[in-house]
Amino acid sequence: MLSEKMQAAMNKQINAEMYSAYIYLSMSAFFADKNLMGFANWMRIQAKEEMIHAMKFYDFIVERRGRVLLEPIAGVATEWDAPLAVFENAFAHEQKVTGMINDLVNLAIKEKDHAANSFLQWFVDEQVEEEASADAIVQQLKMVGDSPTVLFLLDREMAQRQLGAPAAGGAA
Ligand SMILES: [Fe+2]
Ligand SMILES: [Fe+2]
Repeated sequence: MLSEKMQAAMNKQINAEMYSAYIYLSMSAFFADKNLMGFANWMRIQAKEEMIHAMKFYDFIVERRGRVLLEPIAGVATEWDAPLAVFENAFAHEQKVTGMINDLVNLAIKEKDHAANSFLQWFVDEQVEEEASADAIVQQLKMVGDSPTVLFLLDREMAQRQLGAPAAGGAA
């Protein structure tokens, strides 16, 4: 059985992962509107991965005979100044999520919930990749500067990303 505290925290994390999916989907729509379909593809896959994360928490709660309780998902931004601003936002968001995962691990240790702690280790590793891939693209976009040609080439590279495959422009 999950403790009340652990169940509440994991339900909160389902919401955070769904919110992540929502924000990345909004970023995808923004890029599609700017005709940067490679970037739009990258963000759309990112959104799908976040939904997979949400379902991992969902399934874990059900497996442990807890109760999944879905809360409303908060609204997300729809406009950014430039592609760089989008990825800076994504990087900052992933750093925030890493903090949430670390808090969950701390709670699992406090509650002596070894199964939850073990389950959460996948997310600890995943967050290292998530931060690295967003940051790698931030760095690349800084090098792009005001060059539409280089942005076009990077967009083509971003179009290569597939679900579950290493991400173009950074770590998996
Ligand atoms: Fe996630
Ligand atoms: Fe993420």
